[in-house]
Amino acid sequence: VREPDLAGRHVVVSAGGTREPLDPVRFLGNRSSGKQGYALARTAAARGARVTLVAANASLPDPAGVDVVPVGTAVELREAVLRAAADADAVVMAAAVADFRPATYAAGKIKKKDDQEPAPVTLVRNPDILAEVSAERARSGQVVVGFAAETDDVLANGRAKLKRKGCDLLVVNEVGERKTFGSEENEAVVLGADGSETPVAHGPKEALADTVWDLVAERLG
Ligand code: C5P
Repeated sequence: VREPDLAGRHVVVSAGGTREPLDPVRFLGNRSSGKQGYALARTAAARGARVTLVAANASLPDPAGVDVVPVGTAVELREAVLRAAADADAVVMAAAVADFRPATYAAGKIKKKDDQEPAPVTLVRNPDILAEVSAERARSGQVVVGFAAETDDVLANGRAKLKRKGCDLLVVNEVGERKTFGSEENEAVVLGADGSETPVAHGPKEALADTVWDLVAERLG
């Protein structure tokens, strides 16, 4: 049994993937299952933390003893994360947030007409929530963690992203067709803003989650 080393702490975890609607029946989405974020929420609760799980479209059971806030879009996820982050000791952004959303939402289902050319879909930028939480630090000493899925030059791209986002820790994993998404297991390197590099061997998503909380707990002191 683990020490309740996160007792008295409030942690916020985002999980799942955002869906950006085009009309009442269509959306732009991604393949994130939410499993890594849910594993982070479960393990933090097991270590004594009060946990707010901002869950974007994950069809997973609510973890026991965790406050789950369901959201759909990136804009909704931002609202929920910023609200919960106000008194949080740590924020872990495990959700796959869409970088762009359709510029307009059609209130009725978009129709096709015979011989019609495909209509262009115009996209606009979504807010970068991780960068915003990192820049704001709603509470002093707050530890902010991001995730990055990379397909090539994993470490170099991870280092650059850590710097760009301004977070304390960045969990970098290599993704490919049979890797990570929807899987029960993960393999990663956790990069620290202090230059640290913590490899996590291929294993259950809970093991990676516990390594993240070890590194967070170290930084909370
Ligand atoms: O830039 P990229 O999408 O690779 O960054 C991934 C990290 O940034 C994840 O932690 C994700 O939750 C977060 N993110 C965000 N807001 C966005 C895009 C990504 O918070 N609009």
